[in-house]
Amino acid sequence: RDQLLFSYKGILYPRILYSPEVFKALESFEARRDDVILAGYPKSGTNWLSQILNDLIAISQKKTPGSESSVNAEEQEEFPYLEIGDSEKYERMSKLPSPRFMVTNLCPEKLPKSLFQNNAKILLLIRNPKDVATSYYHFSNGVATVPSYETWDDFFTDFMAKKTAWGCYLEYLSEWNKYADKENIMTITYEEVKENPALSVKNIATFFGIPLTEEQLQLVVERSSFQSMKKNSDKTHGSFGNVLFRKGGVSDWKNHFTEDQSKKMDKAFEEHIAGTKLGKKLKY
Ligand code: PPS
Repeated sequence: RDQLLFSYKGILYPRILYSPEVFKALESFEARRDDVILAGYPKSGTNWLSQILNDLIAISQKKTPGSESSVNAEEQEEFPYLEIGDSEKYERMSKLPSPRFMVTNLCPEKLPKSLFQNNAKILLLIRNPKDVATSYYHFSNGVATVPSYETWDDFFTDFMAKKTAWGCYLEYLSEWNKYADKENIMTITYEEVKENPALSVKNIATFFGIPLTEEQLQLVVERSSFQSMKKNSDKTHGSFGNVLFRKGGVSDWKNHFTEDQSKKMDKAFEEHIAGTKLGKKLKY
């Protein structure tokens, strides 16, 4: 594990993706009012919402999502994950035209202050922690960036003991909860997008001030369905697509958690987040 992960300010991160130097350089990043920022813990559906946001940005620029002239998240000039890159990334980003799109897996206190001072708009994506853990377990065994696990039980033990990368999801939620009332932050759950994608896309577009025709709305919804994204994943995500687009559903945790594990997560949920705004919003 030590070979793959390192600890920065109390949280583990994959060495291959992050470095203390870049985390330090990130502090100088200047957010803009018209930035489009997606915040979500790994496995909460960030690639899904990235696709929706990129299509909405294309529409705001009078382009047709999926056409030659529109760029998908992975192809943009800078890798969209804010904290992944080299130390000069933020200098280069300062020269990019608006609107800039970025994703972050970090807790708010690890993010540059300007994100909150400059009133950049942030879409905060949250997902049932049990499904996040389930998705993460399969991801661990499909990629080389984080340690793999022989059994679900071993993974669950480490996940609950904060020994997995990106730290404890419940702590992540409780940190973001401190910001959940800010008007420049919109919270959305994986489960609500799944249940009513059209309404979710509409609400997201309204939050970012992007007008949509009914036809455009349908196109965004169609392109962001699990089936379409999976089908297109060779082009958008290469071989990672097979790991990423796994089941794309709600409650797969029921096929993994024992009753005891479920109770442990319930207890942690109670302790960290249950009575809060985010806790109440989560379909738990
Ligand atoms: S990562 O690796 O952190 O970037 O993963 P992330 O994209 O945040 O989350 C991956 C999970 O999101 C599911 N997914 C989707 N669900 C519904 N609809 C669409 N279009 C979609 N795209 C991705 C993906 O299948 C992962 O969840 P699981 O439960 O593992 O299937």
